[in-house]
Amino acid sequence: MQPLVDPFARAISYLRVSVTDRCDFRCTYCMSEHMTFLPKADLLSLEELDRLCTAFVRLGVQKLRITGGEPLVRKGILTFFEAMSRHLATGALKELTLTTNGSQLAKFAQPLADLGVRRINVSLDTLDPAKFAEITRWGRLPQVLDGIEAAKAAGLHVKINAVALKGFNEDELFSLADWCAANGHDLTFIEVMPMGEDMTAGRLDQYWPLKDLRARLAERLTLTDLAERTGGPARYVRIEETGQKIGFITPLTHNFCESCNRVRLTCTGQLYMCLGQEDMADLRAPLRASPDDASPDDAGPGDASLEQAIRAAIARKPNGHDFDYSRQKVAGQITRHMSHTGG
Ligand code: GTP
Ligand code: 5AD
Ligand code: SF4
Repeated sequence: MQPLVDPFARAISYLRVSVTDRCDFRCTYCMSEHMTFLPKADLLSLEELDRLCTAFVRLGVQKLRITGGEPLVRKGILTFFEAMSRHLATGALKELTLTTNGSQLAKFAQPLADLGVRRINVSLDTLDPAKFAEITRWGRLPQVLDGIEAAKAAGLHVKINAVALKGFNEDELFSLADWCAANGHDLTFIEVMPMGEDMTAGRLDQYWPLKDLRARLAERLTLTDLAERTGGPARYVRIEETGQKIGFITPLTHNFCESCNRVRLTCTGQLYMCLGQEDMADLRAPLRASPDDASPDDAGPGDASLEQAIRAAIARKPNGHDFDYSRQKVAGQITRHMSHTGG
């Protein structure tokens, strides 16, 4: 079996799957307040998602991250995790994980841990309840903190994702880091990206370059660059004073596309080969056109056309995104919302 390799010789081993575009929050940098979501009838069923993900696993994907929207609001989501956990059992999949806003973790943390999830990423930009309500519009901080507690109690390793926002969480840099250190969570900061139709006005005013954030950390703390990777785009430092690890995701100040190992599947079966480009391949048509074989794990005759469609898509993977704020204007913006492709 030929592994998936793109035109720039990058091996594709990481699939991000957005299982729903819906969310119970409305983060201001991600969604508009009144979002129109995809009609439910357009969604792939959990069985179809299983078949697609299984095809990717057969083709060499070793890391599967479930995203959304908010993945835990998709009905029956545990059935899907259970189905995917069989690929952990065979060793084909090295990691099954998710990125979540944390709102449903009190209910789902333990069952997820039981199904083989070890590490989760939780989005949390502020520890101030009023600011949390402002940025998420619909979210409430205590619910998320309870969810994170439940994750910890279930033995899940938590990484907090904070979007770095000028004038919003600048003043919480050290308190966020201290809180994560005290609770044993890793922490990653993300540069805000120009995504979402009509949503990029004001992006430049919000943009807090992570090289500035890093310099501010270094005023008080000793940072050592680490070679270690988690398979995503973050680059990590260790804080020598506490041993804490902090990650930086820098699509704007430092492009990491040369080491890209991932593609993204939407809940309607579109494969986006890059978060920052519009090109996508429809996998729903070849999926539905080919018969589902009796065994979901053996590639039967019906899967050949699906695998061919996946290979053809990977062969179109672009070099990278074109996000750019350096000329004092927003360039390379993408009209689809982050919730469509799951970040
Ligand atoms: P781990 O390394 O496994 O912890 O995860 P990750 O960083 O791959 O996943 P996560 O869902 O936490 O992603 C964090 C942020 O990184 C999200 O905002 C993503 O949009 C962003 N990100 C992930 N991959 C890419 C990428 O290929 N390009 C860009 N521009 N951003 C990305
Ligand atoms: N820029 C950067 N990160 C974003 N996220 C959502 N929208 C944006 C954006 N425009 C983040 C969320 C979550 C992850 C999946 O993507 O905060 O942590
Ligand atoms: Fe929902 Fe995540 Fe988007 Fe916030 S960033 S609205 S939590 S999908």
